[in-house]
Amino acid sequence: MAKILIAEDDPSMVVVLVEVLKELNHEIITANSAERALDLVRQQGPDLVLADIEMPEGQPKGLELLRFVKEHDPLIPVIVITGYATKERAVAALRAGAQDFIEKPFRIDELRKRVENALVQRQAMQVIRENVALKKQLRDKFRFDNIVGSSPCMEAVYRMMERIANTDVTVLILGESGTGKELVAKALHYNGRRAAMPFVAINCAALPEHLLESELFGHRKGAFTGAAFDKVGLFQYADGGTIFLDEIGSMALGLQSKLLRFLQDHELRRVGDTETIKVDVRIITATNEPLQKKLDEKLFREDLFYRISVIPIELPPLRDRTTDIPLLAHFFLQTIAQRNGTTVPTLFDEVLAALQAYRWPGNVRELQNAMERAAALCDGGVIALHDLPERVLHGVDKEISTPPAMLSGAMLDAALAEKAAEASQWTLSTPSLSLKEFTHQQEVRYIEQAIAANGGDKEKAASMLDISMATLYRKLAPTTEGSDIV
Ligand SMILES: Nc1ncnc2c1ncn2[C@@H]1O[C@H](COP(=O)(O)OP(=O)(O)OP(=O)(O)O)[C@@H](O)[C@H]1O
Ligand SMILES: [Mg+2]
Repeated sequence: MAKILIAEDDPSMVVVLVEVLKELNHEIITANSAERALDLVRQQGPDLVLADIEMPEGQPKGLELLRFVKEHDPLIPVIVITGYATKERAVAALRAGAQDFIEKPFRIDELRKRVENALVQRQAMQVIRENVALKKQLRDKFRFDNIVGSSPCMEAVYRMMERIANTDVTVLILGESGTGKELVAKALHYNGRRAAMPFVAINCAALPEHLLESELFGHRKGAFTGAAFDKVGLFQYADGGTIFLDEIGSMALGLQSKLLRFLQDHELRRVGDTETIKVDVRIITATNEPLQKKLDEKLFREDLFYRISVIPIELPPLRDRTTDIPLLAHFFLQTIAQRNGTTVPTLFDEVLAALQAYRWPGNVRELQNAMERAAALCDGGVIALHDLPERVLHGVDKEISTPPAMLSGAMLDAALAEKAAEASQWTLSTPSLSLKEFTHQQEVRYIEQAIAANGGDKEKAASMLDISMATLYRKLAPTTEGSDIV
């Protein structure tokens, strides 16, 4: 059911129009002047306007109404009704944006047909509009602006990305785990001419060879035990778009040859098929381990390597771009606050200094998780040192397995329980120390954290805390009442 506005000053005509359109199950609103029609367009947003352009009285006139509707919402179709159709009038109305033109007297079935036609077209336009809006959202999500970092190495990455986004050149993205390889692959896709087509990502390390092969290339029914149906592979699915082959270094040699053949002639053969299929996909690959060793050991084909690495993009580890850390930390806190509808917590300099001193083996992903945790734990809109994970505070740099992309519910609960226990200790313990001793203990704890964050280097810790080495040693010494430790 659509909402149709009839703008017509002749009451007998209105009766006929209403009757016919109601039969088609539409909701009808009427206006007997162009002025009233303008109000109704504004207030009710009809799906279609039927307008008599010869409405004589008042301002504006019918043609102006038509112009207004088109300005207000170009997707509302307007069918113009006229008593004296001349070619000039028809042309003027169509120029002003009328969808169609109907002359009095008209046949009822003609009117019906034109109304239904206009509504179908409107629906199609709406689908297109929603699609454009959705694509824009996706594009916004993966604009280069959403890749945060202004260090010279990241600037170089952006420059290269700008140059190649709109091309079909194969790209090999190199970088440790969590450095943003997939983010860059998506940004290349969504900023290029293939943006409206699919982006498909697959991790080549996640599947055994034969499964990966049928996942990528598809298979015919009966090609192997368990192949009960024909299967379209990801290459075919991504036709017109981009395929992102993550951890390409793990691909088995047999499959590497098949990929090489595909890269050479853009044709593929499904498992168990004799026919080839032409497919147009852009290939972006990534690896978090240098391929050199695999090349030396002949576990990776050299010819394939040259083919996939036409443009290599190297994403440096986070520890080599520490100036990006505050930017990224703020960016994540902002995103989290936006998601939760809360205000963005403050990050004090000492917290930023600790973040910059840590080595981040899990790179940006680890920082993102640390910010998720800190945002959940922090009190009063301020992130304190104790809201950071232990390993960050103590500069522990042991190899950690890839952390989950998000803080899981269980982890969050554990962290909150830890926080509650900590809070209750503070509130339950009765003050027994002198204020000076308490302050001293706090300072010692803080300095020790700074030393740990700098890998035991006291000089660096002192400079991070903006105190001299002498002050640092003095403050670490036990207090004696009466001596001034400032
Ligand atoms: N420069 C950056 N700006 C903003 N967010 C980033 C940046 N780099 C990475 N991220 C975020 O960090 C997380 C990890 O990034 P991504 O998955 O792209 O890393 P990866 O290199 O593919 O990791 P892996 O090797 O483990 O697959 C994602 O949530 C991503 O959005
Ligand atoms: Mg990845």
